[in-house]
Amino acid sequence: MKLVESLRALEPRFIALRRDIHAHPELAFEERRTADLVARTLQAAGIEVHTGLARTGVIGVLRNGTSPRAIGLRADMDALPIQEQNRFPHHSRHPGRMHACGHDGHTAMLLAAAEHLAATRAFDGTVYFIFQPAEETVGGARVMIEEGLFERFPMQAVYGMHNWPGLPVGQFAVHAGPVMASSDQFDITIRGHGAHAAFPHQGRDPVLAAAALAQALQGVVSRTLDPLDAAVLSITRLKADAGAYNVIPEQAELAGTVRAFRPEVQDQVEAAMERICAGIGAAHGVQVSLDYQRGYPPTVNDAREASRCRAVLEELVGAENVRTDLKPSMGAEDFAYMLRERPGCYVWIGNGSGEGGCMLHNPHYDFNDEILTLGASYWVRLTERLLSPEAAQPA
Ligand code: NI
Repeated sequence: MKLVESLRALEPRFIALRRDIHAHPELAFEERRTADLVARTLQAAGIEVHTGLARTGVIGVLRNGTSPRAIGLRADMDALPIQEQNRFPHHSRHPGRMHACGHDGHTAMLLAAAEHLAATRAFDGTVYFIFQPAEETVGGARVMIEEGLFERFPMQAVYGMHNWPGLPVGQFAVHAGPVMASSDQFDITIRGHGAHAAFPHQGRDPVLAAAALAQALQGVVSRTLDPLDAAVLSITRLKADAGAYNVIPEQAELAGTVRAFRPEVQDQVEAAMERICAGIGAAHGVQVSLDYQRGYPPTVNDAREASRCRAVLEELVGAENVRTDLKPSMGAEDFAYMLRERPGCYVWIGNGSGEGGCMLHNPHYDFNDEILTLGASYWVRLTERLLSPEAAQPA
């Protein structure tokens, strides 16, 4: 492993900073303390700071030399509405809030890299350090883009990194193509006709239609998609209750989520769901309405950028520690919005064993401080390679 040696000297300070963020988790768009800490750390390193993009987002701008090349490095800052079960000294001080996805670590790694790059400046071009709010579920990246991220801070490519429990410390994973899935959700309302349960012929039973629908929707992935296109449709809510044993209710509801790796597959799933809802509705004489809501798009790495990142990682940890064989995840990630606007690559950094509940979004999770300098080293080397003073090619 070829860590950036001088980053080691910063390690104790950035581990302390990471634990401080861990102890003070803030939810989406409320990352005021964290954003303030980020802005102050960047300023102290002599980096130009812009605040307030997507409310609590922070951008650090570091220019060096004369090259017009520019890249963005992104970290997320938000925590989750989870009650932490850990008892170590840096456990969450805020009941019901927790850094259970390692965004505290992502923020600390990028800050350490920024400080190092500002001091050493072995690159030619501009680096934008993007500290985004609200990665979890509400799409802070999308809001940053809507508020002019790429116009105000023009960059040719953008890069992200997420810790990955289960992947050993010292390893990375790179995908040339999809790495995380899209995340859509749906609500289905079935309006029937209530009746006495002893006289079902006097009503239109929405419960039977809901049961038929729950079954039929499982045919969407298996019967309408190309078998080589991955997708999942999960129904996670099924509700009907007239409040009595002997009453057929007026209404039933279903809800759930759809995941896929290509926008065309999202379209196909939505269209098939519309057809099935209409058909089951007609068959049962009930009214079925589908509200299909698009969430995060799939996170898709640019193949050329992925191979550049892979080369940097191979130099850092050796080819045997850069995994290109891992399957993409059906989880979702709002860095997807940035990758829709600019080519780039989102890599996974091994967080070590996921045992003992150290999985993402688990109340026993913690970011592994052992990988902080490694992650920061990746950001430093990536910047130095992509914005190499020797390379004449534009990024
Ligand atoms: Ni996360």
